[in-house]
Amino acid sequence: PLAQTGDLVTEAAQVSGAVAAFNVVTLEHIEAVIAGAEAARAPVILQISENAVKFRYGRLIPLARAATTAAHLAQVPVALHLDHVSGDELLRQAADAGFSSVMYDASRLPYAQNLAATRAAVAWGHANGLWVEAELGQVGGKHEEAPLDAHAPGARTRPLEALGFVRDSGVDALAVAIGSSHAMTTRAAALDHALLARLAATLDVPLVLHGSSGVPDAELAAAVRGGIAKVNVGTALNVAMTAAIRTYLTANPHAVDSRRYLSVGREAMARTVTELILTVRGAGVP
Ligand code: G3H
Ligand code: ZN
Repeated sequence: PLAQTGDLVTEAAQVSGAVAAFNVVTLEHIEAVIAGAEAARAPVILQISENAVKFRYGRLIPLARAATTAAHLAQVPVALHLDHVSGDELLRQAADAGFSSVMYDASRLPYAQNLAATRAAVAWGHANGLWVEAELGQVGGKHEEAPLDAHAPGARTRPLEALGFVRDSGVDALAVAIGSSHAMTTRAAALDHALLARLAATLDVPLVLHGSSGVPDAELAAAVRGGIAKVNVGTALNVAMTAAIRTYLTANPHAVDSRRYLSVGREAMARTVTELILTVRGAGVP
């Protein structure tokens, strides 16, 4: 059934774990995430990013409708989340399309502008029933020629700045930069667990790990024990799907029926989903 992101995050924390959130781009991603969650017998979050909407010719509705329908049919609770949104128009579409949450990303702006934009998005989101995640991204407050992205390996969220940001913006959850990095195709990231401990002790909102595809299982489990409540995964699904399809097409060079190789890719993604859910769910239980 369709669930609410805020409820899934709270429920995961009650069992000392994190809820996994997977970025979906195609119908096969949606089906694989739900099949993988059903195999793990656990709730899951389906995320559609602004970039995924751009890939879908700028339209949210077709993929959103597919995700909503699939969520209703699922045997486990499934919440819909709009990820890395910077445009107000898309934010408004999300509320109408059955999403219970959004990640409003103004992290490329300097602190004051990030805060002002996030505060406005939170006010609008709360008035329209959305749980809002945001990101504090301008690390160090310096304005280099190319601003440091929050998920560049060297970027870090500063606890006291984050405390003010959370208090003044009213966000429901905060994406923190603790050493993970988006779009890694190998699991080689090392997290700053001491910083995570300080962030968890300073902030009273759930913390979100982005770029989790590049984080090894043991590091993910340690991050959940340290206070991460939502684990965002995108690239790992594409790594699994593409590798499986490449192997299949290499072994079957005359294959043309897209259902054949898409099923192979979908099954590989579902296995990855199950493994990652089991890694982060209940990871906090010794
Ligand atoms: O918001 C989405 C996540 O941060 C996904 O990052 O593709 O590196 O796993 P990833
Ligand atoms: Zn992200």
